[in-house]
Amino acid sequence: MEKYYFTYDDIHLTAKDIADRVVASGYDPDIIVAIGTGGFIPARILRTFLDKPVLAVGISYYDADDKPSKEPRKVQWIEEAERKLAGKRILLVDEVDDSRSTLEYCIRELMRHGPAEIAVAVLHDKKKEKRGIIPPEVSRYFAGRTIEDRWVAYPWDAHDIGAHDASAAACRDKP
Ligand code: G4P
Ligand code: MG
Repeated sequence: MEKYYFTYDDIHLTAKDIADRVVASGYDPDIIVAIGTGGFIPARILRTFLDKPVLAVGISYYDADDKPSKEPRKVQWIEEAERKLAGKRILLVDEVDDSRSTLEYCIRELMRHGPAEIAVAVLHDKKKEKRGIIPPEVSRYFAGRTIEDRWVAYPWDAHDIGAHDASAAACRDKP
Protein backbone atom coordinates (compact mmCIF):
# COMPACT_ATOMS: atom_id res chain seq x y z
CA MET A 1 0.00 0.00 0.00
CA GLU A 2 1.44 3.32 -1.04
CA LYS A 3 -0.71 5.67 0.97
CA TYR A 4 -2.90 5.51 4.00
CA TYR A 5 -6.49 6.59 3.45
CA PHE A 6 -8.48 7.49 6.56
CA THR A 7 -12.19 8.26 6.49
CA TYR A 8 -13.97 10.75 8.72
CA ASP A 9 -15.18 7.80 10.77
CA ASP A 10 -11.61 6.54 11.18
CA ILE A 11 -10.54 10.01 12.35
CA HIS A 12 -13.46 10.22 14.77
CA LEU A 13 -12.65 6.83 16.30
CA THR A 14 -8.97 7.69 16.58
CA ALA A 15 -9.83 11.00 18.28
CA LYS A 16 -12.12 9.16 20.70
CA ASP A 17 -9.34 6.74 21.49
CA ILE A 18 -6.98 9.64 22.20
CA ALA A 19 -9.60 11.33 24.41
CA ASP A 20 -10.10 8.10 26.37
CA ARG A 21 -6.36 7.85 26.92
CA VAL A 22 -6.08 11.50 27.96
CA VAL A 23 -8.81 10.95 30.56
CA ALA A 24 -7.33 7.63 31.72
CA SER A 25 -3.92 9.29 32.16
CA GLY A 26 -5.43 11.77 34.61
CA TYR A 27 -4.53 14.75 32.44
CA ASP A 28 -7.27 17.36 32.66
CA PRO A 29 -6.49 20.10 30.14
CA ASP A 30 -7.99 23.56 30.55
CA ILE A 31 -7.73 24.30 26.88
CA ILE A 32 -7.19 22.56 23.55
CA VAL A 33 -4.86 24.40 21.15
CA ALA A 34 -5.29 23.37 17.52
CA ILE A 35 -2.47 23.86 15.02
CA GLY A 36 -4.07 24.96 11.78
CA THR A 37 -5.17 23.74 9.50
CA GLY A 38 -4.65 20.01 9.94
CA GLY A 39 -5.31 20.17 13.69
CA PHE A 40 -8.67 21.93 13.41
CA ILE A 41 -10.94 18.96 12.76
CA PRO A 42 -9.18 16.59 15.20
CA ALA A 43 -9.32 19.32 17.89
CA ARG A 44 -13.03 19.85 17.28
CA ILE A 45 -13.71 16.14 17.66
CA LEU A 46 -11.61 16.02 20.84
CA ARG A 47 -13.78 18.83 22.21
CA THR A 48 -16.80 16.56 21.88
CA PHE A 49 -15.19 14.07 24.25
CA LEU A 50 -13.13 16.33 26.52
CA ASP A 51 -15.54 19.29 26.59
CA LYS A 52 -12.82 21.96 26.68
CA PRO A 53 -12.58 25.18 24.69
CA VAL A 54 -10.50 25.16 21.51
CA LEU A 55 -8.06 27.89 20.52
CA ALA A 56 -6.49 27.89 17.07
CA VAL A 57 -3.00 28.90 16.07
CA GLY A 58 -1.61 29.09 12.56
CA ILE A 59 1.85 28.47 11.19
CA SER A 60 3.16 29.44 7.80
CA TYR A 61 6.17 28.18 5.87
CA TYR A 62 6.01 31.27 3.70
CA ASP A 63 7.79 34.43 4.68
CA ALA A 64 6.23 37.88 4.84
CA ASP A 65 6.89 38.29 1.07
CA ASP A 66 5.09 35.01 0.30
CA LYS A 67 8.35 33.21 -0.49
CA PRO A 68 8.72 29.62 0.74
CA SER A 69 10.86 29.45 3.87
CA LYS A 70 12.48 26.66 5.86
CA GLU A 71 11.60 28.31 9.14
CA PRO A 72 8.01 28.38 10.30
CA ARG A 73 6.51 31.65 11.41
CA LYS A 74 3.44 32.47 13.42
CA VAL A 75 0.34 33.66 11.66
CA GLN A 76 -3.06 34.15 13.30
CA TRP A 77 -1.36 33.88 16.66
CA ILE A 78 -3.63 36.25 18.48
CA GLU A 79 -2.49 38.03 21.58
CA GLU A 80 -5.67 37.21 23.40
CA ALA A 81 -4.94 33.53 22.89
CA GLU A 82 -1.50 33.99 24.35
CA ARG A 83 -2.87 35.72 27.45
CA LYS A 84 -5.28 32.85 27.93
CA LEU A 85 -2.46 30.33 28.13
CA ALA A 86 -0.68 31.55 31.26
CA GLY A 87 -1.03 29.03 34.09
CA LYS A 88 -3.18 26.72 31.98
CA ARG A 89 -2.86 23.05 31.16
CA ILE A 90 -2.74 22.83 27.39
CA LEU A 91 -3.51 19.97 25.04
CA LEU A 92 -1.78 20.83 21.75
CA VAL A 93 -3.38 19.05 18.80
CA ASP A 94 -2.27 18.37 15.24
CA GLU A 95 -3.20 15.75 12.70
CA VAL A 96 0.22 14.25 12.01
CA ASP A 97 3.64 14.10 13.63
CA ASP A 98 5.79 13.92 10.53
CA SER A 99 9.14 15.74 10.71
CA ARG A 100 8.15 17.18 14.12
CA SER A 101 9.45 20.61 13.07
CA THR A 102 6.10 22.37 13.26
CA LEU A 103 5.26 20.67 16.52
CA GLU A 104 8.55 21.67 18.12
CA TYR A 105 8.13 25.24 16.95
CA CYS A 106 4.58 25.47 18.34
CA ILE A 107 5.52 23.87 21.65
CA ARG A 108 8.40 26.33 22.12
CA GLU A 109 6.16 29.28 21.26
CA LEU A 110 3.48 28.12 23.68
CA MET A 111 6.01 27.60 26.46
CA ARG A 112 6.90 31.29 26.28
CA HIS A 113 3.45 32.09 27.60
CA GLY A 114 3.86 30.35 30.91
CA PRO A 115 1.43 27.43 30.71
CA ALA A 116 1.18 25.16 33.75
CA GLU A 117 1.64 22.08 31.58
CA ILE A 118 1.70 21.11 27.90
CA ALA A 119 0.63 17.76 26.52
CA VAL A 120 0.60 16.90 22.82
CA ALA A 121 -1.93 14.83 20.90
CA VAL A 122 -1.65 13.81 17.26
CA LEU A 123 -3.84 11.46 15.27
CA HIS A 124 -0.88 9.84 13.55
CA ASP A 125 2.79 9.59 14.43
CA LYS A 126 5.02 8.48 11.57
CA LYS A 127 7.80 6.08 12.43
CA LYS A 128 10.79 7.91 11.02
CA GLU A 129 13.81 9.95 11.95
CA LYS A 130 12.47 13.29 13.14
CA ARG A 131 14.00 16.68 12.48
CA GLY A 132 12.35 18.29 15.49
CA ILE A 133 12.12 17.13 19.09
CA ILE A 134 9.35 17.08 21.62
CA PRO A 135 10.91 19.31 24.30
CA PRO A 136 11.25 17.73 27.75
CA GLU A 137 8.77 20.25 29.18
CA VAL A 138 6.02 18.33 27.39
CA SER A 139 4.60 16.11 30.09
CA ARG A 140 2.63 13.68 27.93
CA TYR A 141 2.44 12.67 24.29
CA PHE A 142 -0.58 10.89 22.84
CA ALA A 143 -0.44 9.41 19.34
CA GLY A 144 -3.72 7.96 18.11
CA ARG A 145 -1.87 5.58 15.83
CA THR A 146 1.78 5.01 15.07
CA ILE A 147 2.14 4.45 11.34
CA GLU A 148 4.79 3.75 8.71
CA ASP A 149 6.43 6.66 6.96
CA ARG A 150 3.93 6.92 4.11
CA TRP A 151 1.73 9.73 2.89
CA VAL A 152 -1.62 9.97 4.65
CA ALA A 153 -4.65 11.00 2.59
CA TYR A 154 -7.00 12.78 4.99
CA PRO A 155 -10.71 13.03 4.19
CA TRP A 156 -10.68 16.82 4.40
CA ASP A 157 -8.23 16.94 1.48
CA ALA A 158 -10.51 14.86 -0.75
CA HIS A 159 -12.13 16.50 -3.76
CA ASP A 160 -14.20 13.39 -4.23
CA ILE A 161 -15.06 11.99 -0.80
CA GLY A 162 -16.80 8.95 -2.31
CA ALA A 163 -13.63 7.95 -4.17
CA HIS A 164 -11.56 8.65 -1.04
CA ASP A 165 -13.76 6.40 1.09
CA ALA A 166 -13.63 3.71 -1.60
CA SER A 167 -9.82 3.85 -1.52
CA ALA A 168 -9.93 3.56 2.28
CA ALA A 169 -12.20 0.51 2.03
CA ALA A 170 -9.95 -1.09 -0.61
CA CYS A 171 -6.90 -0.64 1.65
CA ARG A 172 -8.78 -2.10 4.59
CA ASP A 173 -9.71 -5.21 2.58
CA LYS A 174 -6.09 -5.93 1.75
CA PRO A 175 -4.42 -8.37 4.12
P1 G4P B 1 5.08 18.14 12.09
O1 G4P B 1 5.97 19.10 12.81
O2 G4P B 1 3.71 18.12 12.68
O3 G4P B 1 5.69 16.79 11.98
O4 G4P B 1 4.79 18.66 10.63
P2 G4P B 1 5.78 18.98 9.44
O5 G4P B 1 6.35 20.35 9.65
O6 G4P B 1 6.73 17.87 9.22
O7 G4P B 1 4.74 18.97 8.26
C1 G4P B 1 4.70 19.87 7.20
C2 G4P B 1 3.31 19.85 6.56
O8 G4P B 1 3.10 18.61 5.90
C3 G4P B 1 2.18 19.97 7.58
O9 G4P B 1 1.12 20.67 6.97
C4 G4P B 1 1.74 18.53 7.77
O10 G4P B 1 0.42 18.48 8.20
C5 G4P B 1 1.90 18.02 6.35
N1 G4P B 1 2.01 16.56 6.30
C6 G4P B 1 3.06 15.81 6.69
N2 G4P B 1 2.83 14.51 6.44
C7 G4P B 1 1.60 14.45 5.88
C8 G4P B 1 0.81 13.36 5.37
O11 G4P B 1 1.19 12.18 5.41
N3 G4P B 1 -0.40 13.68 4.84
C9 G4P B 1 -0.85 14.96 4.77
N4 G4P B 1 -2.06 15.17 4.24
N5 G4P B 1 -0.14 16.02 5.25
C10 G4P B 1 1.08 15.75 5.77
P3 G4P B 1 0.88 22.20 7.26
O12 G4P B 1 1.95 22.99 6.59
O13 G4P B 1 0.71 22.38 8.72
O14 G4P B 1 -0.46 22.46 6.51
P4 G4P B 1 -1.96 22.10 6.97
O15 G4P B 1 -2.41 21.04 6.01
O16 G4P B 1 -1.94 21.62 8.37
O17 G4P B 1 -2.67 23.38 6.80
MG1 MG C 1 -0.58 21.03 9.83
